[in-house]
Amino acid sequence: DKGGHKHFMAKEIAEQPAVIAQALAHYLGEGGDTITLPGAGVDFSAVNRLTMVACGTAYYACLTAKYWFEQVARLPVEVDIASEFRYREPPISEGTLALFVSQSGETADTLAALRYCKGKADSIVSVVNVAESSIARESDLALPILAGVEVGVASTKAFTCQLSVLLMLALRAAHDRGLLEDDALADQISALRSLPALLNAALDQEDTIRRAAQNLSEARDVLFLGRGQMYPMALEGALKLKEISYIHAEAYASGELKHGPIALIDQNMPVVVLAPRDALFDKTVSNMQEVLARKGKVVLISDQAGLDEASDGLWQSVAMPACPDLLAPIIYAVPAQLLAYHAAVAKGTDADQPRNLAKSVTVE
Ligand code: M6R
Repeated sequence: DKGGHKHFMAKEIAEQPAVIAQALAHYLGEGGDTITLPGAGVDFSAVNRLTMVACGTAYYACLTAKYWFEQVARLPVEVDIASEFRYREPPISEGTLALFVSQSGETADTLAALRYCKGKADSIVSVVNVAESSIARESDLALPILAGVEVGVASTKAFTCQLSVLLMLALRAAHDRGLLEDDALADQISALRSLPALLNAALDQEDTIRRAAQNLSEARDVLFLGRGQMYPMALEGALKLKEISYIHAEAYASGELKHGPIALIDQNMPVVVLAPRDALFDKTVSNMQEVLARKGKVVLISDQAGLDEASDGLWQSVAMPACPDLLAPIIYAVPAQLLAYHAAVAKGTDADQPRNLAKSVTVE
């Protein structure tokens, strides 16, 4: 049942505020100010390294979480693509927590990577949507993301639920490691509780995003740029666009622009810049200006403060709600998803069942 939407993907994008509210309630309780993990949980004070492994969009969730675990929990984090990790036979040092992220819990490469870590990592934790999946069963601890069934091949609500659970885990790690006092944790938790309302505010921009997507749908190639936590969102935006609209898209960390991809810039290649008005904003904007100076067409996704400062010469702009820094990736996932979705609708491709792709990749 598409619930009145044209595609499951549209329904699943729209469901995000509600499913994230459920995931928050599961881990935070109603009105509580601690983060509760199932079973015996994890004691992060005994962990000294985190190795995160996944594929596709779940891998981008891990790349985002790296910023959180490093920043708030001061844990060294290594993130890898499962199909690379499993054959490299990487050494696993003592005190390593191995974390696997998978919507289906059946992705062959992720499962093989998990099996490789058995007996080597101190503990094996997974973040999954399907609670009875192989990856969940073979983990010491499985953390459900509670996104509900995701039908669209393009991962949307599973991605933002993965991010929400990973952010809670990073905050829990910071608390266990004595880096976040009780009242600071309570403040972060009350910020987390604003996620559903912020996501609704992001979804309210759908008409503007649709117009930008219709313009993008005419391009052959699109470049996405982001810095810091927005770099993985740029990667996710490019993957979504490729996957369902078949438009070639690439993502770069903004600072890498002048190390190569700037040679591609002309009026035929739109550039989507993801940049909330945070501490890195000015840096990203100066990269954006390098694009504008070469007649590149820029779609800037920022908040009102950012757009007020950097609106000159833009092709399109999209205003996201202002939000606490740590929440920005979860909010900016929404315009990345909607840009891809509406570009696919404009091109008439099947957003729910893109060619050549399966929902669950159980063979390598
Ligand atoms: O079920 P998993 O989360 O392990 O799947 C991983 C990838 O196959 C998946 O995220 C894929 O990249 C999506 N189609 C992206 O939208």
